[in-house]
Amino acid sequence: MRNSILDFYYFSGTGNTLLVVKEMIKFFRKNNLVVNLKRIEVSDPSQINTDHLIGLAFPVAAQSTHEFLWDFFKSITSTKQETEIFMVDTLAGFSGGVVGPLKSILKSKGYKPIASKEIKMPNNLNFKEFNEVKSDKKIQKGLKTAKKFAHDLLFGLSKWQGLPIPNLIHKVSTNAKTWEFLRRKFRLDIDESKCIKCGLCYKLCPVDNIEMHTYPEFSEHCQLCMRCISFCPTFAIFNQFKPIHTYTACKSDEILKAK
Ligand SMILES: Cc1cc2nc3c(=O)[nH]c(=O)nc-3n(C[C@H](O)[C@H](O)[C@H](O)COP(=O)(O)O)c2cc1C
Ligand code: SF4
Ligand code: SF4
Repeated sequence: MRNSILDFYYFSGTGNTLLVVKEMIKFFRKNNLVVNLKRIEVSDPSQINTDHLIGLAFPVAAQSTHEFLWDFFKSITSTKQETEIFMVDTLAGFSGGVVGPLKSILKSKGYKPIASKEIKMPNNLNFKEFNEVKSDKKIQKGLKTAKKFAHDLLFGLSKWQGLPIPNLIHKVSTNAKTWEFLRRKFRLDIDESKCIKCGLCYKLCPVDNIEMHTYPEFSEHCQLCMRCISFCPTFAIFNQFKPIHTYTACKSDEILKAK
């Protein structure tokens, strides 16, 4: 790595990615790397400082990642100095179309993609009863992998894995029609008898898809990040298709205030 300042851009719906990012920055800071932690949902991709090392961290969704994250990646400012960049994603099992296609976008903007890692963490989209013991084990293993990835990155031992070509899975999983279908399938709604009108879901939504009227109301560009449904203190948000067993890896205020 050429640089001693890292701007680490991340998005985390329910905390898995945030845990991984925190584990990595603990290691980086111990080893004298200056780290600026930046939440993607409030960052401007055209203002990225290409003099710094850049990190990207995000969850996998539907064999890809959320639409607004692709918008962010595609709008990242170009660089003329082969700025080094790495990515880490968290996932339950398999991501078909992220690593290679992202490499291709970044290369086309002049970056030097130096390392990528996919780290398994608990699934935050659960239709079956949740097993906490298994989940804790998966988190511990995931955090070990995160620490090793941070080590390997710092000492130049890791590589960007995917080929820089958009594959078929990527084409399907980023197609607008696929996401329209998913939004219909996973349509969220409010149980007004449970809602205490605290507005937390409104504050947490990364894409302003929730408006507060008497009760929260959903708009049409949900990213299915699971934040609102998972952090609602009274479990008032539900999925119309199938009940979801909610999952969170941290507290809601950490999602908004991590440093
Ligand atoms: C809508 C949705 C789709 C998902 N699709 C996948 C997937 O295709 N493959 C996978 O391995 N995990 C998938 N997951 C699981 C998440 O990637 C995983 O739990 C991730 O660690 C969540 O990170 P976060 O807590 O930082 O949001 C999906 C989760 C959601 C909410
Ligand atoms: S977080 Fe839950 S309780 Fe609070 S306003 Fe939203 S739906 Fe209602
Ligand atoms: S409405 Fe809920 S699930 Fe959809 S993007 Fe906003 S916080 Fe995420």
